[in-house]
Amino acid sequence: MACLATAAIACDAADMIGVFDSGHGGLTVFRALVERFPALDFIYLGDHANVPYGNRPSSEVVDLTRAGVETLFRRGARLVLLGCNTATCVAARTLQQDWLPESAWTGRNVLGIVAPTVEAATQTPWAVSTPQYPQKYNTDVIAVFGTMRTISSFVYPEEIRKRCPRATVVQQICADLVTAIETSKPEAEVDAIVKSGVDGLMAQTGGQPPHRAILGCTHFPLVEHLFRRHLPPFTRLLSQPEIVADSFEDYLARRPHFAGAGTRCRTPVLLTTGDPIAVTETGRVFWPDVPRFEKTA
Ligand code: DGL
Repeated sequence: MACLATAAIACDAADMIGVFDSGHGGLTVFRALVERFPALDFIYLGDHANVPYGNRPSSEVVDLTRAGVETLFRRGARLVLLGCNTATCVAARTLQQDWLPESAWTGRNVLGIVAPTVEAATQTPWAVSTPQYPQKYNTDVIAVFGTMRTISSFVYPEEIRKRCPRATVVQQICADLVTAIETSKPEAEVDAIVKSGVDGLMAQTGGQPPHRAILGCTHFPLVEHLFRRHLPPFTRLLSQPEIVADSFEDYLARRPHFAGAGTRCRTPVLLTTGDPIAVTETGRVFWPDVPRFEKTA
């Protein structure tokens, strides 16, 4: 979209919405937001120099995520969404409760993507953190696929069970899937990884098909068709880009001061800590029209 600076629209440098991810996965969420909100300005940061986060110690994930959020704040984001389950599960609470209030970044906020996903999985608003009828009696089986760090954080089962204490939550690590997607491995190879993840999950449920399955890694919507192929038809897939865009709409309706000038002032900005040429090339797998990435420190 053309820059409208000449049309006398007040475009504040701090009016951008930031999305942070360890690499390319957050592009699935970023794209959904850019397309859903044509009047907003967006900036993305992929920490490709340090991807994947999923196998890193928690303290490293917290430090890297905080550094990424600060880069986005410095570049003009007032609100940053962690478009990464690993970063959200491991770092969101620390950043929101401990770091941000003590930092110099007043008037800014950091959001994660677990809350909207849990809301969708439990049909319960995030603010309602005690079981209420009818969810009190909900005995559904809910599957969560994610990285090692997301699964070992137990954030999804804990948050789901606060709202649906009788639900069964079954978690499955999909090791190597992020790397296979980031490196564009052949479909047959990726398919085998997804199949082994689904087989692992079904072994845990004793063959009982889950009612819902959360693709709890922002890379996984790229291979949603493979999860669909291997999961029983009965299982409803919860894919985050749409869920997060819906929830974000609701958030902005309640906090319109984060929405900016009301007209998109610039092409979405994409930053990477990696090699911008290679990252843009791989980014096309995630989003055919992806704008060029720029290098950031
Ligand atoms: N896309 C990230 C997520 O949603 C994980 C990728 C990684 O392991 O860095 O968890």
